[in-house]
Amino acid sequence: MPVIEIENLTKDFLVGFWKKRPVRALDNVSLQVEQGEIFGFLGPNGAGKSTTLKILMHLLHPTSGATRILGDPVDSVGMRRRIGFLPENPYFYDYLTPEELLTYIGRLFGIRQPVLSQKVRTLLETVGLADARSVQLRKFSKGMVQRIGIAQAIINDPEIVFLDEPMSGLDPLGRMEVRRIITALKAAGVTVFFSSHILPDVEALCDRVAILNKGKLQEVGVLEDILKVRIEGHEVILAGWSDETLKTIRRSCEEVRTMGDRLHVRIGSREQMEPVLKYVFEERLELISMNPIRPSLEEYFFQELKR
Ligand SMILES: Nc1ncnc2c1ncn2[C@@H]1O[C@H](COP(=O)(O)OP(=O)(O)OP(=O)(O)O)[C@@H](O)[C@H]1O
Ligand SMILES: [Mg+2]
Repeated sequence: MPVIEIENLTKDFLVGFWKKRPVRALDNVSLQVEQGEIFGFLGPNGAGKSTTLKILMHLLHPTSGATRILGDPVDSVGMRRRIGFLPENPYFYDYLTPEELLTYIGRLFGIRQPVLSQKVRTLLETVGLADARSVQLRKFSKGMVQRIGIAQAIINDPEIVFLDEPMSGLDPLGRMEVRRIITALKAAGVTVFFSSHILPDVEALCDRVAILNKGKLQEVGVLEDILKVRIEGHEVILAGWSDETLKTIRRSCEEVRTMGDRLHVRIGSREQMEPVLKYVFEERLELISMNPIRPSLEEYFFQELKR
């Protein structure tokens, strides 16, 4: 069952001072997120990711189109008790400590004592802020603010969490921790919808992704499938080779490199593959690995979105 539904979503912003003209930030975007998925919402700067999230959070009104969360329209108060949100640039009352802020937000959700204190303590542990529990937020670094932002997004045990760039501003350790939090949420059955341009995180986490560019949805699907379409050949790694091997293989493949006692052969096409593999088996060379060469998400972004 889809828990997030976006149908033909379009958003125009009016820009300019005297003569206002509309600028299209989202152009007829449709997508659905299934219950229990980790869904990555990707796109370069200005693609429209935050705009989409703000519309889902009922912070912006769409120009046209429909959005539903957990089957309800986005202005439903009942539904909002069941979701969590981390905004792009979280800003909190900065004279509060993390403990005070989380207690305050917990109360807004109607969580009572002593459950609340216990919950706040566990959350501060989870996001790595236990030692800073009594430090005012105005003394926090960017990464620490991001951590408290993540804590407040999950304090109500939401069924869906919406995270606008959850890894932004975090050091490698912090990113690992957030990855762990997201994985744990999924294991608990929570649906996670997050925007990001930190591609390795997306590759490591997401069940499906949507790629947005200049307000238009470019692709939706399993990342493997999106990238697989663009397999550029295979890389074969061999051991136990001789100078003779090198000469023979060079006859059918141009890209042959030696690395220590390994031979790396790049095979561009099927026609090239056959003679090489035949030779490998006939000469009983050791086949260490053979992998398709597909672009990383980074290369995909570079190639596709530059066009
Ligand atoms: N309040 C606004 N008024 C006018 N234009 C806006 C407004 N908010 C966003 N835009 C424009 O809408 C487009 C999409 O912006 P959005 O913030 O959704 O991008 P994004 O994908 O979140 O980018 P980033 O990766 O930089 O966070 C941009 O061209 C931006 O300039
Ligand atoms: Mg954004």
